[in-house]
Formats: sequence, structure tokens, C-alpha cells
Amino acid sequence: QVAADMALVDADFVAGRLPKRSRFAHKGTFGHALLLVGSRGKVGAGVLAARACLHGGVGLLTLAVPAAGYGVVQTAVPEAMCLPDDCKTHLTQLPDLAAYAAVGMGPGIGQHDDTRAVLEELLCTAPTRNQPLVLDADALNLLGANRSLLDLLPPDSVLTPHPKEFERLTEPARDDYHRLDLLRDFARRYQCYVVLKGAYSCLAAPDGHLYFNTTGNPGLATGGTGDVLTGLLTALRADRRLPVLDAVLLGVYAHGRAADLAVVHTGEAGLTAGALPAYIGLALQELT
Ligand code: APR
Ligand code: MG
Repeated sequence: QVAADMALVDADFVAGRLPKRSRFAHKGTFGHALLLVGSRGKVGAGVLAARACLHGGVGLLTLAVPAAGYGVVQTAVPEAMCLPDDCKTHLTQLPDLAAYAAVGMGPGIGQHDDTRAVLEELLCTAPTRNQPLVLDADALNLLGANRSLLDLLPPDSVLTPHPKEFERLTEPARDDYHRLDLLRDFARRYQCYVVLKGAYSCLAAPDGHLYFNTTGNPGLATGGTGDVLTGLLTALRADRRLPVLDAVLLGVYAHGRAADLAVVHTGEAGLTAGALPAYIGLALQELT
């Protein structure tokens, strides 16, 4: 028996939330996503997020990366368009957001002050366009180090901290129960969706409900699997057919399910973040 304001996210719970693709679908149906990713030495995080976004079914994808990442991204992810920053090493410019159905920021971006300014401008610009945001990794670390920015978070933003990132956004938790209280309070206060990642990732919704994911396995305990989740969630937020709660539940569930499908072939030790995106399509297909 689970408390009334909590739920277990299993196959039954997500059933019926993902609409079938119309026979007459075109790439406009699934939205154009923008990912702001990468910095010197961490362009790979952006590649992982980009591949997951594409395998998550996005219609079109544009990547904003530091100039040094341009060749990497154009080669590793030929499906995506690329907007190279004027700066070689880190993001210093926010692209014109007019074209995008959703924006993801964080994987590999580093914590340079120029990049903090880009994040701040994004937080100020996105709400006027009613643009869904997904924030992860160093975008969260920048928020944690500049807490006044939290008041700029557009409602219904999606944040995906691991426990250490969540602690930087809030305070050290006394124990796991206290951490869940902090999670619920944070989601209510900022009216956002927060995925506290780990085994049995917990999603807190703005109304204070908690959702515990049942998919995934210890094969995910390897660098870059969180970046894959960021890309997938950005794809699902770009899909205007999905309400925000459904998009986040589906993303977290399918990310874990992709890992469960993958380890049949790779074993848990052999699972890499790079191998994960290829299983996302199957994980989603099972749900339609
Ligand atoms: N069971 C199920 N899922 C798991 C398990 C497990 N035992 N272990 C990890 N996961 C999942 C988490 O739920 C999450 O979706 O794997 C993912 C790990 O994400 P992150 O903690 O963000 O790890 P990573 O992708 O390596 O992050 C890359 O960005 O967030 C920063 O500090 C982080 O340097 C790191 C980088
Ligand atoms: Mg991470």
C-alpha cells in the first residue's frame, strides 16, 4: 500500500500516456528542440544528450556548443544542426529561441560565469515564449551557486539532479526521508518537476505528489547516463501532444526501461551511456 500522494511508476502506471504516431505525422508534429551543451573536455556529454533526444523521437534538433565542439558534434550527430558559440571553450551566447518547442541545458557546460549569464538570460526569456525547459548537471550547479536565480525558474520547468546536485540546490539531508521532504518542498515552492536521480528515481511534482520509478538497473551507474536522460526529456517536452507530467513520467520510465533492454545484450558492467540511446525507441514503442 502506497500513500495517497505517492505512486509507483511501473508499466501499468505509464500505459496509455504515450499517443501513437499518426500515419500522417511529419517532423513538425514532434517539435524542434534546442540543447545547450558542452565545454572544453565535456563535449561528449552533449553528444550523448543529443543522441538520446533524437532517439526519443524529436522532430528536429539544434545544438548550441562552444566553437571547439562544432566538428565533433557535426560528425558524431549528423542529424542535428549546430550553432557554434563565438567562444572556443564554453557557452557565452543564448541563441534566438523563437524556433524551439523545448530547450534543454546543462550536460557538460561547466560553470563559467559567462555560462551562468546565458542560463540567466534563458530563464528570463523562456517564460515569455512559454518554452518548456529541462535543466541538468552544471545548469543545476550554477543555480545552486547562484540561488537568487531560482526565483526566475519558469513554472513547469524540469530539473534532474542527482543527490549531490540536489544538495547544492537545497541543503544536506539528514537521511533519505528528509531528502524526500526537501524534494517535495522544492517542487512546490518553485512549481517545477524535480527528478531526484538514482535507483528508484523520485519525481516530485509541483502539487507535492511523489512518483517512484521502477525501471533501470545498476548498469546505469556509469558516466553519461544522466546526460542521456536530459536529451530524452527534452525530446518529450518538445512533443506538444504530451502534458508535462506525462512527458516526465514517460522519460524517466523509458530511460530505465532502455537500460533494462540494453543489459540483455551488454550485461550490467558492459552498459555504456553511448549504447543506451539505441534502446530508447524500443522502450517507447512498448508503451504505444
Ligand atoms: N539503478 C537505476 N538507475 C540508476 C542506478 C541504479 N542503481 N544508478 C544510476 N542510475 C541512473 C540515475 O537514475 C540517472 O538517471 O543513472 C543516471 C545517472 O545520472 P547522473 O548521476 O547525472 O550521472 P552522469 O550521467 O554520469 O552525470 C554526468 O554530470 O551530473 C553531472 O556530476 C555529474 O559529472 C557527472 C556528469
Ligand atoms: Mg549528470
